[in-house]
Amino acid sequence: MTEKLKGLILSGGKGTRLQPITHTSAKQLVPVANKPVLFYGIEAMVAAGIEEIGIIIAPETGDEIREVTGDGSQFGAKITYLPQAEPLGLAHAVLTAEPFIGDAPFVMYLGDNLLRDGIVSLAEQFQSSNPDALILLTKVPDPEHYGVAELHDGKVVALAEKPPEPKTDLALVGVYMFTQAIFDAAKAIKPSARGELEITDAIQYLVDQGKNVEPHLVDGWWKDTGRLDDMLQANRLVLEDLQPVQDGELIDTQIEGRVVIEAGAKLERCVVRGPAVIGAGARLTDAYIGPYTSIDKGVVIERSEVEYSIILEGSKIADLGARLEASLIGKHSQVVRTDGMPRTFRMLVGDKCEISLV
Ligand code: G1P
Repeated sequence: MTEKLKGLILSGGKGTRLQPITHTSAKQLVPVANKPVLFYGIEAMVAAGIEEIGIIIAPETGDEIREVTGDGSQFGAKITYLPQAEPLGLAHAVLTAEPFIGDAPFVMYLGDNLLRDGIVSLAEQFQSSNPDALILLTKVPDPEHYGVAELHDGKVVALAEKPPEPKTDLALVGVYMFTQAIFDAAKAIKPSARGELEITDAIQYLVDQGKNVEPHLVDGWWKDTGRLDDMLQANRLVLEDLQPVQDGELIDTQIEGRVVIEAGAKLERCVVRGPAVIGAGARLTDAYIGPYTSIDKGVVIERSEVEYSIILEGSKIADLGARLEASLIGKHSQVVRTDGMPRTFRMLVGDKCEISLV
């Protein structure tokens, strides 16, 4: 392979499985350990020596992604935005990117995926063994939710997109390495039952044409953050590797385990049990923060306990009277208990919210 690898990140889609958060914000920008999911993919590419990255964006969320991600200089890369007018499938996104990719081999990375060990060794394997495509696979307990691969003697022989009765438990991870062959494949296939040009079908086409599709089993963890449970688990997994930093102000506060406290955060009479991250400018008073919690910038928590949760920018949690757990609270939301109206709930709840009172 002589041409330098390029990167393609897919950051379109409607994020329906993460509504209501995605009514107002792109799913790829939901923070994991206070950093947008999308940034992990960009950083993984830069670490693998990729300098030119194209990001597929949708009309609804493209502007927000451009604004937050910029021209790539903050990552040491050059980012080009590639608008996809309609979400017609991952293989359609590949075709949308064809002029940007040109003759280069490329890594395609789904913008809501997180891969613990990055892609450095994969990019090396791809460039040294020179297959037509390289796919990443991992064993999962629920393969029916993913693309599923069948191998024979270490070779890919068949692929199926979300089969109701999967033949194996090997899921397609949302990171792929392609050569030019994928463009012909994406042009040859027909839309699936859900009306999309599936990348899984395009790879099957490569296999059918006798092309060399190399499988690679992922060692470290992988998460597709498309659903709430996965998002919370991704947050837990990233926080597992947290290196403690203390840049905030602590008053009568006890910190246990690995905790990051960002600049300008102020904690008064709190207990924080890591791993956890408290964002810049957050104000925590008489609060308990339990393991695997990410508190974003400017959040206010008063007289409340929060554990295994993600609280987004500018939200307020006060006087709950019970521990908030396994929750994702969107930006600038309020979850508070007020005096004067015992045994009643007063709520302004948006579409597709979930509230469980236990
Ligand atoms: C997509 C792919 C699927 C793959 C998954 C990984 O599914 O179609 O083959 O296993 O990403 O995240 P989606 O999550 O877009 O439904």
